Amino acid sequence: MSQENLLFKNSDLDIETRVDDLLNRLTIDEKFKLLAGTRFFQTHSVKRLGIKPFKMTDGPLGISRHSSFFRRNTRFPGGICMAATWNRDLASQFGVAVGEEARAIGRHALLAPGINIDRSPLNGRTFEYFSEDPFLTKEIAIPYVKGIQNDQRIAACIKHYVANNQETNRFTVSAEMSERTLHEIYLRAFMDVIKEADPWMIMTSYNKVNGQYLFTDQELLKDLTWTKWNFSGFIVSDWWAFTRADPPVLVEECIRAGMSLEMPKPAIFNPDSLHKAYSEGKITDRDLDAVLRRLLRVMFLVGLFDNKKTLPKGKRNTSDHQELARKIAEDGMVLLKNDNNILPLDINKINKLAILGPNRDKKFGKWLYGGSSAVKPPYEITPLKGLKEKCKGKCKFVTEPKDADFTIIFAGLNHDSEGKLVRSDEGTEEVPIGHDAEGTDRAQLELPDEQVNLINQTVQENPKTIVVLLNGSPIAMNGWLENVPAVLETWYPGMEGGHAIVNVLFGDINPSGKLPLTFPKRLSDSPAHKSTRTFPGEDLKVFYDENIFVGYRYFDNENIEPLFPFGFGLSYTEFSYENLKLEKKGTSETITVTVQVDVKNTGSRTGADVVQLYIQDVESSVERPPKELRGFKKVMLSPQEKKTITFTLVNNDFAFYDETIHDWRTEPGEFNILVGSSSRDIHLQEKMLIQD
Ligand code: BGC
Repeated sequence: MSQENLLFKNSDLDIETRVDDLLNRLTIDEKFKLLAGTRFFQTHSVKRLGIKPFKMTDGPLGISRHSSFFRRNTRFPGGICMAATWNRDLASQFGVAVGEEARAIGRHALLAPGINIDRSPLNGRTFEYFSEDPFLTKEIAIPYVKGIQNDQRIAACIKHYVANNQETNRFTVSAEMSERTLHEIYLRAFMDVIKEADPWMIMTSYNKVNGQYLFTDQELLKDLTWTKWNFSGFIVSDWWAFTRADPPVLVEECIRAGMSLEMPKPAIFNPDSLHKAYSEGKITDRDLDAVLRRLLRVMFLVGLFDNKKTLPKGKRNTSDHQELARKIAEDGMVLLKNDNNILPLDINKINKLAILGPNRDKKFGKWLYGGSSAVKPPYEITPLKGLKEKCKGKCKFVTEPKDADFTIIFAGLNHDSEGKLVRSDEGTEEVPIGHDAEGTDRAQLELPDEQVNLINQTVQENPKTIVVLLNGSPIAMNGWLENVPAVLETWYPGMEGGHAIVNVLFGDINPSGKLPLTFPKRLSDSPAHKSTRTFPGEDLKVFYDENIFVGYRYFDNENIEPLFPFGFGLSYTEFSYENLKLEKKGTSETITVTVQVDVKNTGSRTGADVVQLYIQDVESSVERPPKELRGFKKVMLSPQEKKTITFTLVNNDFAFYDETIHDWRTEPGEFNILVGSSSRDIHLQEKMLIQD
């Protein structure tokens, strides 16, 4: 039979028939070969059967240089900025665009999105992740994953499963937590994204959970994802994770747990170990086929066996991708402070501007800068470049703040560590202050002293000083926030950041980003930082003593005033809320609640607000957070315009994870429905009863 007539090559047949056929044709050696990577970001080929390598690329901010043959690609803002948009439509467009870039560069999978929960504000990878809240995380991840997969047939890989919440000792630390905490906070977004968006890949994390590496944990991998959540894709290791494990892991443990692929090289899944385990009966044909079937299925899904001409073509570095990068940056910027409406600036009323601060002309798109998510773009608009374009022929730059109409300080963090990835994985290396990146956790919550001094000195010389932050995680602002009239949080805003910042500063764009995580006043206020036991851990165990009280759940429960609460963000206009109405049908199992509220732009500028819905369980058999986000809508309104927003809540939205039944449960009883513009700014509320 000629190769072309083989069943698995026939794209008219259904995918399972093709997978079965191909699986049956593989020899045991070929199977072993497919279980591990080669060349860092791809699998082996099997020439005999025409199986081409399955190629992957990092990562959450676009297509990285190190996994795209040194190409420059569109650099989008960090995940935290994406989440700060609270904009599902933009998340979908982002997914489509990165899918297109991956396709254009000849890759089949994108190692993104990163959906770990932001537990500690010091976590070095906060800039890649979305939020401290599982609901916001999944609401951004779902359209993003669908965008990547549905449009370009590129596999999305949700990572890092699970509880990779710190970089310190990331290869060996164990996250110790209750079953409820694990499910309700750390697994929840993985579950929802798997159920609602069907991602084709999961990457396991480096760390252990409750003493066990995930890649050996049959209960958390196979039983939960394959069986309970109907995950149909395959599970890949994080890079070198198997080799970093202490104590070492065994081939059979990983295969039986459900691991289909070891990356980037065959260290544990090497032919010798696999042969040995196979001949000793520690892994069976059935075990092998179960994990390989999944890998092959995804190979078919991305079109590895299809005629190239029939596949999407993708595109990269196009003006529409660059425009999208700018829009996400604009939409995700959070205006934290704006006394006396000092912002927006009026270009026609400014003669002289002083532009200061370490991030004013800093480029972030460099080789491995920040870690595996690094993307080097074809160009990068720094804030200074954006301001120069804006001010050309209209106003001058001066060096002394006292000579300026306004001073803008570009402060924040960076990924600096002599250009290489700092690896304090054993907790031994010193982390530079002001550094947030993969491989390390931040040294402190405050800005470096030089920046604080710069801000305070400058504002003394010129009270009209605006602080613009470029950073990937929360910052404490003691000792300077009260002195400055305005602060704009711009995260790591991507290659078009300078344009986006200027558009917001000068009012071409009305800021509408909302914080996807709490900014604490001080580190010790944060739930993860009660003691060294809770972060970074003792004896390689980090105890999640705060349980389900992560982020705003903790600040609310303990009545601690945050610096800026979850969901917070100012606008150049104002909004009012009225007419909250609930309509309820069914009992605890079947409940559907329709919530309606009117929101009005009461100011004089067009702007978008994010209407947030939280639930509060008033009567419960277990301790529950004072509020939990369960809905949001971003709505654009012209001055004086009013719109009615509708939310639909179903039984799952009221559920908690019940350890006595090892499952989610909605309990009858009284609930409050809270609607507001941040977790601490609730405008309206209504009671409701869930009947048995
Ligand atoms: C990171 C992953 C990344 C992988 C490949 C690891 O160090 O944790 O997020 O996808 O490297 O670069």
